[in-house]
Amino acid sequence: MKVEKFVTVEALTNKVTEKMIKLLADKPEAVFCIAGGETPLPVMKKLIQLQKTNKIDFSKATFISLDEWIGLDRTTKGSCIQTLEDHLFQPLGLRAEQIKFFDGKATNLTAELTKMNTFVAAYGIDFILLGLGMNGHIGFNEPGVTTEANAQIVGLDEVTTTVMTKYFNEKLPLTQGITLGFRQILDANQIILMATGEKKAEIVKATIEGEPTSQVPSTILKQAQNEALFFVDRAAGKFI
Ligand code: F6R
Repeated sequence: MKVEKFVTVEALTNKVTEKMIKLLADKPEAVFCIAGGETPLPVMKKLIQLQKTNKIDFSKATFISLDEWIGLDRTTKGSCIQTLEDHLFQPLGLRAEQIKFFDGKATNLTAELTKMNTFVAAYGIDFILLGLGMNGHIGFNEPGVTTEANAQIVGLDEVTTTVMTKYFNEKLPLTQGITLGFRQILDANQIILMATGEKKAEIVKATIEGEPTSQVPSTILKQAQNEALFFVDRAAGKFI
């Protein structure tokens, strides 16, 4: 995994979006996967600006889900689908068939896993933009999770349920997540892990310095065969 440190979040964002522009020029029907949460929001904002000025064209692209809280759907502010819909998909004017998302409220969650596994097996993932959990989680692949899996249901780590108040302004009684598995994430053609802000500095250091271990899931990205980049801003990279 190649680490790159940027002086500003803006510079980091520009580098991510340049890569997306290039990919779409080569493959207009590319499959993208973008994490929810706060970290990718500047990238989403930039993509909307780029589309407004006709510098990027997602009209043939597909976006798939990275993860979702079990028990939530887009009606809850702070869910992954709500974040992506409101900050990216709707402003971009994507059509429904361009979006393949986990339904965290589905009664048949096994069917959600099967649907996603079938899609990823058929089309793969061209570009995945990941955020870094305070415990190193990737998607909802929490510490200790099996790293050989496809999409799976996982129990949420205590760090994740503590951090959740920043999305929902309260601690919701959520205990599980549905997520793409490491098998699928590692197979993506291009992987970018993003971390910004001083509060991520410790886990950024642990990610960079540690041997691959499921106890710090972000270290598993070092096993990717394809390009895996770790973009951090100055604050998140203050110990490296
Ligand atoms: C969200 C997701 C999570 C977040 C991570 C960082 O879809 O997959 O792994 O990327 O928890 O969250 P933020 O960006 O809010 O710090």
